[in-house]
Amino acid sequence: MRRWIRNLFRIARIPVLGAAVPSLAGAALFLCSCGGGGETFPAAASSAAVPEYVFTYAENQTPDYPTTRGAYRFAELLEEKSGGRMKVLVYPSAELGEEISVAEQVQFGGIDFARFSLSTLTRYNDMANVLLMPYIYEDSDHMWRVLKGDPGKEVTDAFSGSGLVPLSWYDAGARSFYTKTPIRSPEDIRGMLIRVQEVELMEDMVRKLGAEPVPFSYADVYSALQTGKADGAENNFSSYEAMHHYEVAKYFVEDEHMRAPELQIISEVTMSKLSEADQQLIRECAEASAEYERMLWKEHEAEAREKVISMGSEIITLTPEEKGAFRDAVAPLYEEYCGGYMDLIRRIQEERKQ
Ligand code: GCU
Repeated sequence: MRRWIRNLFRIARIPVLGAAVPSLAGAALFLCSCGGGGETFPAAASSAAVPEYVFTYAENQTPDYPTTRGAYRFAELLEEKSGGRMKVLVYPSAELGEEISVAEQVQFGGIDFARFSLSTLTRYNDMANVLLMPYIYEDSDHMWRVLKGDPGKEVTDAFSGSGLVPLSWYDAGARSFYTKTPIRSPEDIRGMLIRVQEVELMEDMVRKLGAEPVPFSYADVYSALQTGKADGAENNFSSYEAMHHYEVAKYFVEDEHMRAPELQIISEVTMSKLSEADQQLIRECAEASAEYERMLWKEHEAEAREKVISMGSEIITLTPEEKGAFRDAVAPLYEEYCGGYMDLIRRIQEERKQ
């Protein structure tokens, strides 16, 4: 059975059902807790005997990863602040499917909440490509000024009508390449099979470097590297460590080609069923969870870097000139993907000078 159909059976959602709520709610909570995931963690003490809403939340990272911990924090806050009326069952480790199928399910309301890599969402909003342009940010602070300022808002507003409603930005550091043999330049990576997300921009970025993109889902990266279906991949330190990719692709070159922030999303179908006050509460808890995630991120990223080094990974640090060779090779992507948004690009670049 297709995964999303399975999920429909698995996801027990409880609308406002008046007198029918108590028995259905009990059954639903029982069903969900049998799936392995769907925990609110740490086990939040429910202050109301029966929740009015039980929501599902999809996350493709491991339970102790910063974004997943952000999701647990969100669940905890929402349950507490709604006096137990709203409960969120978080499913980590892609239990509800990988990002592309999850996004489709969120669109029709089969899943209520999810956290996505922004690149996955470019298929719903091509303005989002602007925030993903290689080397557009000077550093993390520059990216956060942009996300929290007008450009970030313009991009989230442009999701209107997509069925996906952005709630808050999560951090995901910078993405770099990691490979089975060392690389320092586009010449070195030429001809290699590089795993990318199933996203056009990511495929084209790798093509610009002369490598061959192999797009598939996050969960399959380890085995692809192990079996030679891919010679390398690209991601941040935290993912490289959490998914054990360092065991099968030892060389991590800090080219930092892209900062791909993550978005916490609620289904528009779900949002439209809630009162204004509940919508506001959800927004506040989402923002608080994002602040928590951003704090965890910095620490986790630094620890992941240390851990992979201690496990035998070799970190290749590039000189500004060497980094410049990567930057020049991918520069045409700006015109190709953001030709219609050059003013926005310019405003983002101007933020650098502050
Ligand atoms: C990051 C992101 C994941 C995404 C992954 C990928 O790790 O957090 O949600 O799936 O990149 O490369 O596919």
